Amino acid sequence: MVNQISYVSNDERLGEIFKASGLKAAKLTEAEAKTLGKTAEAPAVLVLDVRPHHQLAPWVNDVQKKQPGLSVVVLVSTLDARFILEAMRAGIKECLPEPISPQALEEAVRRLVVGEQRERAGQVIAFVGAKGGVGTTTLAVNLAAALAKTAGSPPLLIDLHVARGDAALLLGAEPRFSVLDAFENLHKVDESFLAGLVEKTQSGAHVLASTARPVNVTTSPTATRTLLELAARRYRITVLDVPRTDPAMLEALDPATVIAVVTSQELSAVRGAAATVATLRQRYGSQRLRVVINRYDKNGPVSAKDVAKVVGEPVTCLIPSDYRVAAEAINVGRPIVTEDGRLAKALRAAAAELMNTGTKEVQSAGMLGRLAWRRA
Ligand SMILES: Nc1ncnc2c1ncn2[C@@H]1O[C@H](COP(=O)(O)OP(=O)(O)OP(=O)(O)O)[C@@H](O)[C@H]1O
Ligand SMILES: [Mg+2]
Repeated sequence: MVNQISYVSNDERLGEIFKASGLKAAKLTEAEAKTLGKTAEAPAVLVLDVRPHHQLAPWVNDVQKKQPGLSVVVLVSTLDARFILEAMRAGIKECLPEPISPQALEEAVRRLVVGEQRERAGQVIAFVGAKGGVGTTTLAVNLAAALAKTAGSPPLLIDLHVARGDAALLLGAEPRFSVLDAFENLHKVDESFLAGLVEKTQSGAHVLASTARPVNVTTSPTATRTLLELAARRYRITVLDVPRTDPAMLEALDPATVIAVVTSQELSAVRGAAATVATLRQRYGSQRLRVVINRYDKNGPVSAKDVAKVVGEPVTCLIPSDYRVAAEAINVGRPIVTEDGRLAKALRAAAAELMNTGTKEVQSAGMLGRLAWRRA
Protein backbone atom coordinates (compact mmCIF):
# COMPACT_ATOMS: atom_id res chain seq x y z
CA MET A 1 0.00 0.00 0.00
CA VAL A 2 1.12 3.51 -0.77
CA ASN A 3 1.98 5.56 2.28
CA GLN A 4 -0.92 7.94 3.10
CA ILE A 5 1.43 10.91 3.52
CA SER A 6 4.48 11.71 1.40
CA TYR A 7 6.74 14.72 1.30
CA VAL A 8 9.36 16.33 -0.90
CA SER A 9 11.95 18.53 0.79
CA ASN A 10 15.64 19.34 0.78
CA ASP A 11 15.42 20.28 4.42
CA GLU A 12 16.81 17.39 6.50
CA ARG A 13 14.98 18.72 9.57
CA LEU A 14 11.53 18.16 8.04
CA GLY A 15 11.76 14.41 8.68
CA GLU A 16 12.32 15.19 12.37
CA ILE A 17 9.35 17.58 12.41
CA PHE A 18 7.15 14.85 10.92
CA LYS A 19 8.40 12.39 13.55
CA ALA A 20 7.66 14.87 16.34
CA SER A 21 4.17 15.46 14.92
CA GLY A 22 3.38 11.74 15.15
CA LEU A 23 2.55 11.52 11.44
CA LYS A 24 4.03 8.67 9.43
CA ALA A 25 5.32 10.18 6.23
CA ALA A 26 7.50 8.84 3.41
CA LYS A 27 10.14 11.02 1.80
CA LEU A 28 10.07 11.23 -1.99
CA THR A 29 12.58 12.81 -4.36
CA GLU A 30 11.17 15.41 -6.73
CA ALA A 31 11.66 12.94 -9.59
CA GLU A 32 9.55 10.32 -7.72
CA ALA A 33 6.84 12.85 -6.93
CA LYS A 34 6.62 13.81 -10.60
CA THR A 35 5.71 10.20 -11.47
CA LEU A 36 2.69 10.19 -9.08
CA GLY A 37 0.48 11.24 -11.99
CA LYS A 38 1.27 7.92 -13.69
CA THR A 39 0.84 5.53 -10.77
CA ALA A 40 -2.37 3.69 -9.94
CA GLU A 41 -2.25 4.65 -6.27
CA ALA A 42 -1.18 8.00 -4.86
CA PRO A 43 -0.80 9.15 -1.26
CA ALA A 44 -3.74 11.01 0.30
CA VAL A 45 -1.51 13.99 1.09
CA LEU A 46 1.68 15.25 -0.55
CA VAL A 47 3.64 17.90 1.36
CA LEU A 48 5.82 20.01 -0.91
CA ASP A 49 8.52 22.16 0.58
CA VAL A 50 8.94 25.17 -1.76
CA ARG A 51 10.73 27.35 0.80
CA PRO A 52 14.04 27.67 -1.05
CA HIS A 53 12.65 28.93 -4.37
CA HIS A 54 9.09 30.01 -3.44
CA GLN A 55 7.67 28.70 -6.70
CA LEU A 56 5.34 25.92 -7.80
CA ALA A 57 6.77 23.66 -10.47
CA PRO A 58 4.40 22.98 -13.43
CA TRP A 59 4.40 19.21 -12.75
CA VAL A 60 2.42 19.80 -9.53
CA ASN A 61 -0.58 20.89 -11.53
CA ASP A 62 -0.27 17.83 -13.81
CA VAL A 63 -0.11 15.42 -10.88
CA GLN A 64 -3.14 17.09 -9.24
CA LYS A 65 -5.18 16.73 -12.42
CA LYS A 66 -4.35 13.03 -12.78
CA GLN A 67 -4.85 12.25 -9.08
CA PRO A 68 -7.96 14.18 -8.02
CA GLY A 69 -7.93 12.35 -4.67
CA LEU A 70 -4.50 13.73 -3.78
CA SER A 71 -4.31 16.81 -1.53
CA VAL A 72 -1.17 18.94 -1.76
CA VAL A 73 0.14 21.04 1.11
CA VAL A 74 2.93 23.51 0.36
CA LEU A 75 5.40 24.79 2.92
CA VAL A 76 6.38 28.41 2.25
CA SER A 77 8.67 30.93 3.96
CA THR A 78 6.02 33.67 3.90
CA LEU A 79 2.48 33.94 2.65
CA ASP A 80 2.18 36.50 -0.11
CA ALA A 81 -0.95 37.23 -2.14
CA ARG A 82 0.59 36.40 -5.51
CA PHE A 83 1.74 32.98 -4.34
CA ILE A 84 -1.55 32.16 -2.61
CA LEU A 85 -3.43 32.96 -5.83
CA GLU A 86 -1.08 30.81 -7.87
CA ALA A 87 -1.44 27.97 -5.36
CA MET A 88 -5.24 28.19 -5.40
CA ARG A 89 -5.25 28.01 -9.20
CA ALA A 90 -3.07 24.91 -9.02
CA GLY A 91 -5.60 23.28 -6.64
CA ILE A 92 -3.31 23.38 -3.58
CA LYS A 93 -5.32 22.67 -0.42
CA GLU A 94 -3.09 24.32 2.22
CA CYS A 95 -0.16 26.78 2.33
CA LEU A 96 1.75 26.48 5.56
CA PRO A 97 4.15 29.38 6.33
CA GLU A 98 7.23 29.40 8.58
CA PRO A 99 7.69 28.56 11.38
CA ILE A 100 6.79 24.95 10.48
CA SER A 101 6.05 23.42 13.87
CA PRO A 102 5.15 19.75 14.38
CA GLN A 103 1.76 20.87 15.64
CA ALA A 104 0.96 23.11 12.64
CA LEU A 105 2.06 20.38 10.26
CA GLU A 106 -0.01 17.75 12.03
CA GLU A 107 -3.14 19.91 12.05
CA ALA A 108 -2.86 20.76 8.35
CA VAL A 109 -2.27 17.17 7.26
CA ARG A 110 -4.84 15.53 9.54
CA ARG A 111 -7.52 17.96 8.41
CA LEU A 112 -6.94 16.82 4.85
CA VAL A 113 -6.64 13.10 5.59
CA VAL A 114 -9.79 13.08 7.71
CA GLY A 115 -11.67 15.21 5.17
CA GLU A 116 -10.64 12.90 2.38
CA GLN A 117 -11.66 9.77 4.28
CA ARG A 118 -15.05 11.28 5.05
CA GLU A 119 -15.58 12.09 1.41
CA ARG A 120 -14.63 8.58 0.41
CA ALA A 121 -16.69 6.83 3.08
CA GLY A 122 -19.50 4.76 1.58
CA GLN A 123 -22.97 4.22 2.94
CA VAL A 124 -23.46 1.71 5.73
CA ILE A 125 -26.95 0.29 6.26
CA ALA A 126 -27.45 -1.64 9.48
CA PHE A 127 -30.36 -4.02 10.11
CA VAL A 128 -31.30 -4.73 13.71
CA GLY A 129 -34.17 -7.06 14.64
CA ALA A 130 -36.77 -6.10 17.22
CA LYS A 131 -36.98 -9.78 18.13
CA GLY A 132 -35.52 -13.07 16.91
CA GLY A 133 -36.94 -14.43 13.67
CA VAL A 134 -38.58 -11.24 12.40
CA GLY A 135 -36.62 -11.45 9.13
CA THR A 136 -33.55 -9.28 9.80
CA THR A 137 -31.18 -11.54 7.87
CA THR A 138 -33.68 -11.91 5.03
CA LEU A 139 -33.89 -8.12 4.68
CA ALA A 140 -30.13 -7.51 4.95
CA VAL A 141 -29.31 -10.20 2.39
CA ASN A 142 -31.98 -9.08 -0.06
CA LEU A 143 -31.06 -5.42 0.25
CA ALA A 144 -27.44 -6.29 -0.58
CA ALA A 145 -28.53 -8.49 -3.50
CA ALA A 146 -30.92 -5.83 -4.84
CA LEU A 147 -28.24 -3.13 -4.64
CA ALA A 148 -25.73 -5.41 -6.37
CA LYS A 149 -27.94 -5.04 -9.46
CA THR A 150 -28.50 -1.28 -9.22
CA ALA A 151 -25.56 0.30 -7.40
CA GLY A 152 -22.93 0.00 -10.12
CA SER A 153 -20.40 -1.64 -7.78
CA PRO A 154 -20.71 -4.69 -5.54
CA PRO A 155 -22.04 -4.01 -2.04
CA LEU A 156 -20.53 -5.79 0.95
CA LEU A 157 -22.72 -7.67 3.41
CA ILE A 158 -21.15 -8.19 6.83
CA ASP A 159 -22.73 -10.77 9.09
CA LEU A 160 -21.85 -9.38 12.49
CA HIS A 161 -22.97 -12.60 14.18
CA VAL A 162 -19.41 -13.78 14.68
CA ALA A 163 -20.67 -17.37 14.89
CA ARG A 164 -23.94 -19.06 13.91
CA GLY A 165 -25.02 -16.36 11.47
CA ASP A 166 -26.83 -17.44 8.33
CA ALA A 167 -26.36 -14.61 5.82
CA ALA A 168 -23.93 -16.67 3.70
CA LEU A 169 -26.44 -19.53 3.53
CA LEU A 170 -29.09 -17.21 2.13
CA LEU A 171 -26.60 -16.03 -0.48
CA GLY A 172 -25.69 -19.61 -1.44
CA ALA A 173 -22.05 -18.96 -0.51
CA GLU A 174 -19.51 -21.11 1.29
CA PRO A 175 -16.91 -18.58 2.38
CA ARG A 176 -13.37 -19.65 3.26
CA PHE A 177 -12.88 -16.78 5.69
CA SER A 178 -15.11 -15.06 8.18
CA VAL A 179 -15.71 -11.97 10.19
CA LEU A 180 -13.86 -13.80 12.99
CA ASP A 181 -10.69 -13.76 10.84
CA ALA A 182 -11.16 -10.02 10.42
CA PHE A 183 -11.54 -9.47 14.18
CA GLU A 184 -8.62 -11.77 15.03
CA ASN A 185 -6.32 -9.93 12.62
CA LEU A 186 -7.68 -6.43 12.98
CA HIS A 187 -4.22 -4.97 13.60
CA LYS A 188 -3.15 -6.03 10.12
CA VAL A 189 -6.42 -5.68 8.26
CA ASP A 190 -6.17 -2.99 5.63
CA GLU A 191 -8.26 -2.54 2.51
CA SER A 192 -6.41 -5.22 0.53
CA PHE A 193 -6.53 -7.71 3.41
CA LEU A 194 -10.28 -7.15 3.65
CA ALA A 195 -10.59 -7.85 -0.07
CA GLY A 196 -8.97 -11.25 0.58
CA LEU A 197 -11.41 -12.13 3.37
CA VAL A 198 -14.67 -11.44 1.57
CA GLU A 199 -16.41 -13.97 -0.68
CA LYS A 200 -17.97 -12.99 -3.98
CA THR A 201 -21.46 -14.42 -4.31
CA GLN A 202 -23.68 -15.31 -7.29
CA SER A 203 -25.94 -12.38 -6.45
CA GLY A 204 -23.11 -9.93 -7.15
CA ALA A 205 -22.85 -8.91 -3.48
CA HIS A 206 -19.69 -9.67 -1.51
CA VAL A 207 -20.05 -11.25 1.92
CA LEU A 208 -17.97 -11.28 5.06
CA ALA A 209 -19.69 -14.16 6.76
CA SER A 210 -20.09 -15.64 10.19
CA THR A 211 -17.62 -18.39 11.12
CA ALA A 212 -18.60 -22.05 10.93
CA ARG A 213 -16.46 -22.69 14.03
CA PRO A 214 -18.51 -23.07 17.21
CA VAL A 215 -16.91 -20.17 19.08
CA ASN A 216 -18.07 -17.74 21.71
CA VAL A 217 -16.35 -14.46 20.99
CA THR A 218 -16.98 -11.08 22.44
CA THR A 219 -15.80 -8.13 20.42
CA SER A 220 -15.26 -4.59 21.56
CA PRO A 221 -17.22 -1.71 20.03
CA THR A 222 -13.87 -0.19 18.97
CA ALA A 223 -12.92 -3.32 17.01
CA THR A 224 -16.30 -3.40 15.25
CA ARG A 225 -16.14 0.32 14.51
CA THR A 226 -12.67 -0.10 13.02
CA LEU A 227 -13.92 -2.89 10.76
CA LEU A 228 -16.94 -0.87 9.65
CA GLU A 229 -14.85 2.21 8.87
CA LEU A 230 -12.51 0.09 6.82
CA ALA A 231 -15.41 -1.49 4.92
CA ALA A 232 -16.92 1.94 4.28
CA ARG A 233 -13.67 3.14 2.78
CA ARG A 234 -13.48 0.21 0.38
CA TYR A 235 -17.16 -0.31 -0.48
CA ARG A 236 -19.64 2.28 -1.63
CA ILE A 237 -22.35 0.29 0.17
CA THR A 238 -21.96 -1.92 3.22
CA VAL A 239 -24.96 -3.77 4.65
CA LEU A 240 -24.89 -5.12 8.20
CA ASP A 241 -26.80 -8.01 9.77
CA VAL A 242 -26.48 -6.92 13.41
CA PRO A 243 -27.04 -9.35 16.33
CA ARG A 244 -29.60 -7.51 18.43
CA THR A 245 -28.56 -9.25 21.65
CA ASP A 246 -24.96 -8.03 21.54
CA PRO A 247 -24.76 -4.60 23.21
CA ALA A 248 -21.17 -4.09 21.99
CA MET A 249 -22.38 -4.31 18.39
CA LEU A 250 -25.20 -1.85 19.02
CA GLU A 251 -22.60 0.51 20.50
CA ALA A 252 -20.44 0.32 17.38
CA LEU A 253 -22.83 1.61 14.74
CA ASP A 254 -21.42 5.14 14.49
CA PRO A 255 -20.28 4.60 10.85
CA ALA A 256 -23.82 3.52 9.88
CA THR A 257 -25.66 6.01 7.69
CA VAL A 258 -28.99 4.18 8.10
CA ILE A 259 -30.07 1.95 11.00
CA ALA A 260 -33.19 -0.03 10.12
CA VAL A 261 -35.09 -1.71 12.94
CA VAL A 262 -37.02 -4.71 11.65
CA THR A 263 -40.24 -5.73 13.33
CA SER A 264 -43.36 -7.75 12.69
CA GLN A 265 -46.88 -6.82 13.80
CA GLU A 266 -46.83 -9.21 16.75
CA LEU A 267 -47.21 -7.44 20.06
CA SER A 268 -43.97 -8.84 21.50
CA ALA A 269 -42.01 -7.72 18.43
CA VAL A 270 -43.56 -4.25 18.51
CA ARG A 271 -42.60 -3.91 22.16
CA GLY A 272 -39.09 -5.04 21.28
CA ALA A 273 -39.00 -2.52 18.44
CA ALA A 274 -40.01 0.31 20.79
CA ALA A 275 -37.23 -0.61 23.23
CA THR A 276 -34.61 -1.07 20.48
CA VAL A 277 -35.54 2.19 18.75
CA ALA A 278 -35.42 4.06 22.08
CA THR A 279 -31.91 2.73 22.78
CA LEU A 280 -30.68 3.49 19.29
CA ARG A 281 -32.31 6.93 19.23
CA GLN A 282 -30.60 7.86 22.48
CA ARG A 283 -27.24 6.76 21.09
CA TYR A 284 -27.43 7.94 17.47
CA GLY A 285 -30.34 10.39 17.25
CA SER A 286 -33.49 9.90 15.24
CA GLN A 287 -32.24 11.06 11.83
CA ARG A 288 -30.76 7.81 10.58
CA LEU A 289 -33.30 5.48 12.21
CA ARG A 290 -35.82 3.66 10.02
CA VAL A 291 -38.55 1.20 10.95
CA VAL A 292 -39.42 -1.68 8.64
CA ILE A 293 -42.38 -3.99 9.14
CA ASN A 294 -41.74 -7.44 7.70
CA ARG A 295 -44.44 -10.01 6.90
CA TYR A 296 -46.87 -7.12 6.79
CA ASP A 297 -50.55 -7.89 6.76
CA LYS A 298 -52.97 -5.01 6.53
CA ASN A 299 -55.34 -6.97 8.75
CA GLY A 300 -52.55 -7.87 11.16
CA PRO A 301 -52.93 -7.73 14.96
CA VAL A 302 -51.26 -4.29 15.24
CA SER A 303 -51.73 -1.77 12.43
CA ALA A 304 -48.73 -0.03 10.84
CA LYS A 305 -50.05 3.24 12.20
CA ASP A 306 -50.03 1.82 15.72
CA VAL A 307 -46.52 0.43 15.24
CA ALA A 308 -45.38 3.96 14.34
CA LYS A 309 -47.14 5.35 17.42
CA VAL A 310 -45.69 2.81 19.82
CA VAL A 311 -42.19 3.01 18.38
CA GLY A 312 -42.27 6.79 18.04
CA GLU A 313 -40.86 6.83 14.50
CA PRO A 314 -42.51 6.70 11.08
CA VAL A 315 -42.64 3.36 9.32
CA THR A 316 -40.50 3.50 6.19
CA CYS A 317 -41.20 0.16 4.49
CA LEU A 318 -43.85 -2.54 4.57
CA ILE A 319 -42.74 -5.95 3.32
CA PRO A 320 -45.49 -8.48 2.60
CA SER A 321 -45.44 -12.07 3.75
CA ASP A 322 -44.80 -14.94 1.37
CA TYR A 323 -43.75 -18.05 3.21
CA ARG A 324 -43.35 -20.22 0.12
CA VAL A 325 -41.12 -17.77 -1.75
CA ALA A 326 -39.02 -17.03 1.36
CA ALA A 327 -38.53 -20.74 2.12
CA GLU A 328 -37.69 -21.63 -1.49
CA ALA A 329 -35.07 -18.84 -1.62
CA ILE A 330 -33.29 -20.35 1.40
CA ASN A 331 -33.50 -23.86 -0.01
CA VAL A 332 -31.81 -22.90 -3.27
CA GLY A 333 -29.47 -20.31 -1.70
CA ARG A 334 -30.67 -17.53 -3.99
CA PRO A 335 -31.92 -14.20 -2.63
CA ILE A 336 -35.62 -13.49 -3.12
CA VAL A 337 -34.92 -10.36 -5.20
CA THR A 338 -33.29 -12.40 -7.95
CA GLU A 339 -36.76 -13.71 -8.86
CA ASP A 340 -39.98 -11.89 -9.68
CA GLY A 341 -43.08 -11.59 -7.57
CA ARG A 342 -44.74 -9.40 -5.00
CA LEU A 343 -42.23 -10.03 -2.21
CA ALA A 344 -39.23 -9.49 -4.53
CA LYS A 345 -40.73 -6.24 -5.78
CA ALA A 346 -41.37 -4.96 -2.26
CA LEU A 347 -37.82 -5.85 -1.21
CA ARG A 348 -36.35 -4.02 -4.21
CA ALA A 349 -38.48 -0.96 -3.43
CA ALA A 350 -37.33 -1.12 0.21
CA ALA A 351 -33.70 -1.22 -0.94
CA ALA A 352 -34.23 1.93 -2.99
CA GLU A 353 -36.11 3.62 -0.16
CA LEU A 354 -33.52 2.82 2.51
CA MET A 355 -30.69 3.97 0.27
CA ASN A 356 -32.28 7.37 0.08
CA THR A 357 -30.13 9.12 2.64
CA GLY A 358 -32.19 12.30 2.63
CA THR A 359 -33.99 13.42 5.74
CA LYS A 360 -37.00 11.51 6.97
CA GLU A 361 -39.28 14.37 6.01
CA VAL A 362 -38.15 13.94 2.40
CA GLN A 363 -38.57 10.19 2.69
CA SER A 364 -42.09 10.29 3.98
CA ALA A 365 -43.03 12.61 1.15
CA GLY A 366 -41.56 10.09 -1.31
CA MET A 367 -42.79 6.94 -2.95
CA LEU A 368 -43.96 5.30 0.25
CA GLY A 369 -45.10 8.58 1.75
CA ARG A 370 -48.63 7.31 2.07
CA LEU A 371 -47.38 4.51 4.31
CA ALA A 372 -45.30 6.64 6.65
CA TRP A 373 -46.70 8.19 9.77
CA ARG A 374 -45.17 11.04 11.64
CA ARG A 375 -44.53 10.60 15.31
CA ALA A 376 -47.84 10.90 17.17
N1 LIG B 1 -41.51 -11.53 4.21
C1 LIG B 1 -41.45 -12.79 4.57
N2 LIG B 1 -42.45 -13.63 4.28
C2 LIG B 1 -42.41 -14.91 4.68
N3 LIG B 1 -41.42 -15.46 5.38
C3 LIG B 1 -40.38 -14.67 5.70
C4 LIG B 1 -40.33 -13.30 5.31
N4 LIG B 1 -39.17 -12.78 5.77
C5 LIG B 1 -38.53 -13.77 6.41
N5 LIG B 1 -39.24 -14.90 6.36
C6 LIG B 1 -38.87 -16.22 6.94
O1 LIG B 1 -38.78 -16.07 8.35
C7 LIG B 1 -37.75 -16.90 8.87
C8 LIG B 1 -36.79 -16.05 9.70
O2 LIG B 1 -36.13 -15.13 8.84
P1 LIG B 1 -34.69 -14.59 9.14
O3 LIG B 1 -33.74 -15.69 9.38
O4 LIG B 1 -34.36 -13.60 8.10
O5 LIG B 1 -34.99 -13.84 10.51
P2 LIG B 1 -33.96 -13.22 11.57
O6 LIG B 1 -34.68 -12.12 12.21
O7 LIG B 1 -32.68 -12.95 10.94
O8 LIG B 1 -33.82 -14.45 12.57
P3 LIG B 1 -32.71 -14.67 13.71
O9 LIG B 1 -33.19 -13.91 14.88
O10 LIG B 1 -32.73 -16.15 13.91
O11 LIG B 1 -31.41 -14.18 13.17
C9 LIG B 1 -37.10 -17.54 7.69
O12 LIG B 1 -37.62 -18.84 7.52
C10 LIG B 1 -37.50 -16.68 6.51
O13 LIG B 1 -37.57 -17.36 5.31
MG1 LIG C 1 -30.77 -13.57 11.41
